[in-house]
Amino acid sequence: MELTVLRGATAAVPARRCRGPSELCFALPPARLRHPLPREEQQQQGGRRRRRGVRVVAAISEELPRLASPGIKGGAGGERRSSREKVALRAALTVRRKQKEDIKEAVAGHLDALWDMVGRNVVLELISTKIHPRTKKPMQSGRVSIKDWCQKRGAKGEHVVYTAEFKVDADFGEPGAITVANRHNREFFLESIVVEGGELPCGPVHFACHSWVQSTRELPTKRVFFSNKPYLPSETPPGLRELREKELKDLRGDGTGVRKLSDRIYDYATYNDLGNPDRGKEFIRPILGGEKIPYPRRCRTGRPPTDTYMLAESRVEKPHPIYVPRDEAFEELKQGAFSSGRLRAVLHTLIPSLIASISAETHNFKGFHHVDNLYKEGLRLKLGLQEHLFQKIPLVQKIQESSEGMLRYDTPSILSKDKFAWLRDDLFARQAVAGINPVNIERLQVFPPVSKLDPAIYGPPESSVTEAHIAGHLNGLTVQQAMDDAKLFIMDYHDVYLPFLDRINAIEGRKAYATRTIFFLTQAGTLKPIAIELSLPPTQPGEPRPSKVMTPPCDATSNWLWMLAKAHVSSNDAGVHQLVNHWLRTHATMEPFILAAHRHLSAMHPIFKLLHPHMRYTLEINALARQSLINADGVIESCFTPGPVSGEISAAYYRNHWRFDLEGLPSDLIRRGVAVEDAMQPHGVRLLIDDYPYANDGLLLWSAIRSWVESYVQLYYPDARTVQSDIELQGWYLESIHVGHGDLRHEPWWPPLSTPADLASILTTLVWLASAQHAALNFGQYPLGGYVPNRPPLMRRLLPDLERDSAEYAAFLADPHGFFLNAMPGVLEATKFMAVVDTLSTHSPDEEYLGEGRDEGGVPWTADEEAVAAHSMFAADVRSAEEIIERRNADHSRKNRCGAGVLPYELLAPSSPPGVTCRGVPNSISI
Ligand SMILES: [Fe+2]
Repeated sequence: MELTVLRGATAAVPARRCRGPSELCFALPPARLRHPLPREEQQQQGGRRRRRGVRVVAAISEELPRLASPGIKGGAGGERRSSREKVALRAALTVRRKQKEDIKEAVAGHLDALWDMVGRNVVLELISTKIHPRTKKPMQSGRVSIKDWCQKRGAKGEHVVYTAEFKVDADFGEPGAITVANRHNREFFLESIVVEGGELPCGPVHFACHSWVQSTRELPTKRVFFSNKPYLPSETPPGLRELREKELKDLRGDGTGVRKLSDRIYDYATYNDLGNPDRGKEFIRPILGGEKIPYPRRCRTGRPPTDTYMLAESRVEKPHPIYVPRDEAFEELKQGAFSSGRLRAVLHTLIPSLIASISAETHNFKGFHHVDNLYKEGLRLKLGLQEHLFQKIPLVQKIQESSEGMLRYDTPSILSKDKFAWLRDDLFARQAVAGINPVNIERLQVFPPVSKLDPAIYGPPESSVTEAHIAGHLNGLTVQQAMDDAKLFIMDYHDVYLPFLDRINAIEGRKAYATRTIFFLTQAGTLKPIAIELSLPPTQPGEPRPSKVMTPPCDATSNWLWMLAKAHVSSNDAGVHQLVNHWLRTHATMEPFILAAHRHLSAMHPIFKLLHPHMRYTLEINALARQSLINADGVIESCFTPGPVSGEISAAYYRNHWRFDLEGLPSDLIRRGVAVEDAMQPHGVRLLIDDYPYANDGLLLWSAIRSWVESYVQLYYPDARTVQSDIELQGWYLESIHVGHGDLRHEPWWPPLSTPADLASILTTLVWLASAQHAALNFGQYPLGGYVPNRPPLMRRLLPDLERDSAEYAAFLADPHGFFLNAMPGVLEATKFMAVVDTLSTHSPDEEYLGEGRDEGGVPWTADEEAVAAHSMFAADVRSAEEIIERRNADHSRKNRCGAGVLPYELLAPSSPPGVTCRGVPNSISI
């Protein structure tokens, strides 16, 4: 036995962990025996764990009386025994059952129970952390089967606890893994296993499984589950080394073959399945990913190519699901209760019904009252379809109660406190810092603003906004003084849109400008729009661009033109929000890190345990997005102005602007010039817009995540050598960059992974993106964006222009309401958009929020008590952030979140009940 004395460790976070089963460590100061614990303390810890559990654990305890079976040595005695003596261990397996079974499934369940009685059963084998001294193989228990499957066939409840009994050599040591062979016909969902009894040196051993176990008919290999004790690769107990490597090899697959829905293989592919060339030329889309159009990779499905284009993968059309590894998918029968299931129902059932119900005559809104009626009377759906919808879509069930036959939407929050706020500039500006897209506002540092596009194609780079346009709105400052004082800000969508405008504007019913909006920061701390520039591409390459500059209005006509200009800005903003900030910068860029984590980090790797809750259901929701949201003619293309070039706009940002090293909140704020580095501040940055709700609250959560991740990393990586020599960790990061983000692998900005600080920084960014950043961009989509006149996702008309079309201009003067409404989306696009974003804004009842307990089914997520303690500190930080956010929303000096009719900013308030709440920070991107 080796004795290690650690120096320099603190009481809160020790400098080095003791790991090997034969290693005994002390941390100084204070001196503390680390492992193995004295038996008395082990028993206390075991007791604490059991008390922490929920109902399932109570059930397990009933199944696990401490035993010393007749004829078998066991119990709590400490005497030495020879290896030939046997001790008894018992396993309790918690299986989650389907809530509702159809007749076919019920019959199959009965058949499995009958087969089980005659020996086609579930077989388990326990693997020790030790190697057998003679065979040099891991010590194994011998195979045993679950005893009571048949008897518990009729048991009630969502969870059923089954038992199995092992007899192992007295010197078996600590169980480190358990294999499960399911010889039934059906898969089952295994929540957890607890092994207890005999003389386990460590108390009960927990296996957090949370996985489908396929029938051996489907997948002949046995499943392996590791105990919840974390091990770095180099510290893997000898008995588990081979299994650890084999499990990862199985998860990687061999890169060939068509994936079955029961598979659990994680691999990469390009986005070559968005188009559907077999349907016609208009459904062809470029492949995103590869040298030509760089893009992150998505999960490989191995589907055959289309008939007409070999490089495009064939589509899986709804309602059939696209492959994701089995454990990434929702349980089929529970899907209706989850956001993903609701989204699927909206896409597959409600939208076809809307299309069938809205005729050409009812295509345009007849007046603003017509929009309001969607929240009052509702939209009449074609008869015969409603009943079908009631059964499938909770959204419709909810809104149908009082108005039969009508699809009625909830009133979006943006209208609920102040019906007329959307008409005013203060709300328009407030949305740039407290809305659904608060991540594009930048400090204006060069005037006039300049384009980075090629002048040979797009004309002279300078904007057409001049000092004369804005001088009267600067409180007496010159433009240079206002810039020096950090009073001028800009939302610049010029370069994002201009290269695509010719193609967008050639589509009937789609019209867009490339917009720039300049804001002045008032003494009240609010922003005020003072100029909007609307540009179109030059008619000949290199010529000046046709541009309009609009300034705050002074009469009726300029008021309507200003409203139309703001609508075009909002439409630009809605497109960038959805295609770039929400889809690309959270959903799509996370996927490669998740794929690589499953392929390279063992379930027993401490970093896998850290990341696990932040990867939940992301592959599933992204697959659904490829099937129905971002595909050719999908919801995004049909409801947003860019239409068929949507994917290319997203890809252009990825190639030209996306940088992983700047995706963390402080770096992003500094890049946009809205904050400066300041070591005196708790978050290391000082905001130049003091009342910036997204940034104010985001920095609180960023700091909480960073502290948690740093303390967790410190538990396992005391120095650079441990980071550099961790082959799984390095394999994960290397593959995330070189394969998952392989098109950008040569970029010099990828952060290194050489030190514990590097690792903590990378992980903090990933956790931030999956949790807070996604929440800020996702859950306000309906509450803040569901009133289409305020934020039209699609525009159908340019501004009326006397020189271009005098008849159109006359029509505008005669009926500005009608002109505005006809410039917005039609009824079908608007109602489709509203139904989808309502669903995207919904929290599932089973949502897991940031800082909440991580144990599942009563089984601790890790056996490492210090990691559990560090997570408790994190939970306290998150609760404290929530209290601060609540106080800020009641602070009248913060005019961007408190005031007459002003909505509080709660998108980064961590907790939420289920439903559309415009608050709540889930751990992962699951909708
Ligand atoms: Fe999302």
